[in-house]
Amino acid sequence: MPLPDAPACRRNRDPILEVLRVHLAEARQVLEVGSGTGQHAVHFAAAMPWLSWQCSDRAAQLPAIAAWLEHAALANTPAPLELDVARGGWPALRFDAVFSANTLHIMGWDEVEALFVGLGEMLAFAPGPRAAFTLVVYGPFNYAGQYTSDSNRAFDASLRERDPRMGLRDFEAVDALARAAGLELVADIAMPANNRSLVWRAPAA
Ligand SMILES: C[S@@+](CC[C@H](N)C(=O)[O-])C[C@H]1O[C@@H](n2cnc3c(N)ncnc32)[C@H](O)[C@@H]1O
Repeated sequence: MPLPDAPACRRNRDPILEVLRVHLAEARQVLEVGSGTGQHAVHFAAAMPWLSWQCSDRAAQLPAIAAWLEHAALANTPAPLELDVARGGWPALRFDAVFSANTLHIMGWDEVEALFVGLGEMLAFAPGPRAAFTLVVYGPFNYAGQYTSDSNRAFDASLRERDPRMGLRDFEAVDALARAAGLELVADIAMPANNRSLVWRAPAA
């Protein structure tokens, strides 16, 4: 299969990596939700060899991700897992971090809710003691119901035209879901092109 290319991934991967190097410095097992092409995964896993990067996405994306992983042939990228957050079935493996980029505005709001319910259950029901847990979400967000740029406003309109279930999410609504899942916001970082990196933590339990 030819390697699929998402140009946005090439533009944003290094600024995101700077955030991940800091916030995933202690992480060992990372689950990525909505890995897309798999390009982020190979870039991040190559740069952070201290962790294992587990890709996941809906079934249709898995061949693309597998092609990138096979091409990169890294030791720390296991085969991608099928995970559609709307359908549940989270892997029973133990993860101490979850990363997701550009997914919350593609998922319907009910799927965003399901994502955080799944995360909360993973945290609550993982067997045995668990290390501190980190969630990093990258993408565009609104604050207090306001767009942060004209380009985000235009992007939101194009998403809603494509599918009314899609659209930019309010930071406050997402943070409320994260708090309900047992997570506390520890960083909200401005990124290029009016994106944000949001970082939540849950203490060891
Ligand atoms: C815009 S792409 C982003 C891909 C990649 N993370 C990136 O930043 O380039 C959105 C991704 O979210 C995934 N996605 C959408 N709905 C999902 C769901 N219900 N469960 C898991 N992934 C989902 C899509 O399959 C797609 O790979």
